[in-house]
Amino acid sequence: MLTESFFPIGVFDSGYGGLTILKEIVQKLPQYDYVYLGDNARTPYGNRSFETVYHYTLEAVKWFFSQNCHLIILACNTASAKALRTIQQRDLPLLAPLKRVLGVIRPSVEAVEKFTITQNIGILGTVGTVLSNSYPLEIQKLFPHLTVTQESCPMWVPLVENNEHKNEGANYFVQKNIENLFQKNSKIDTVILGCTHYPLLVDKILKFLPQNVHLLSQGEIVAKSLEDYLFRHPEIENFCSKNQKREFFTTETVELFEKQATLFFEEKVSAKRISLGYSEVKIL
Ligand code: DGL
Repeated sequence: MLTESFFPIGVFDSGYGGLTILKEIVQKLPQYDYVYLGDNARTPYGNRSFETVYHYTLEAVKWFFSQNCHLIILACNTASAKALRTIQQRDLPLLAPLKRVLGVIRPSVEAVEKFTITQNIGILGTVGTVLSNSYPLEIQKLFPHLTVTQESCPMWVPLVENNEHKNEGANYFVQKNIENLFQKNSKIDTVILGCTHYPLLVDKILKFLPQNVHLLSQGEIVAKSLEDYLFRHPEIENFCSKNQKREFFTTETVELFEKQATLFFEEKVSAKRISLGYSEVKIL
């Protein structure tokens, strides 16, 4: 049971990928309480429609509200691309006008310009994130002089979710997508990993990435941006409790989540299972 003094920051992903973001956030801001939810029962989100991703993400956001979260980070590029804007603009004012939901795309975009010399940026993401055009649109708004080239990598999330990312077979898919990206634009000198699962593939990505290409670490960028946000928004920061507590929830079986999440988070994780998608959310 949550106590009165537990007002955690919520961190959401379709599965395990958001743990790569949470790990960096906890490293930078260890004083706060955090609740992580992985919607493992319905992962991956990457190939799903706008409506479905929006619907699933909104259910998760409502669940975070039920856990006393005043600030929620969608640590999932797909959810940030397909659901964040509607939730911020349409749902939050009605459901919880004093609470905030933030994504991972904007902070990554804000950071990108200082790394590029050629002014050519590459985005690797899920099919959903790439089709949403969120990265090119956001980059265009802030830095209209940059050229953005995207490549969707539909096999990368399943490889990670199925713990195949360190195996030899993963090389084929990583090499293929990276080569595709650079065939489209050989001038790229800065690449954003636009999916929170991809840091788990970083060794293989670096192996196939041309030398001198800068790979942006989304976890560090999001953690820094959250630190700045909390500093600039004391009205939200006041609602984030500081007991250094972390709780983990999954919509799938606890045993599998704990095993996998411990690998992603690099710390022992114990989790509880919840169900989403019913009119009442309950802890099982
Ligand atoms: N980690 C996610 C992202 O950043 C989710 C990928 C998926 O569920 O397909 O996009």
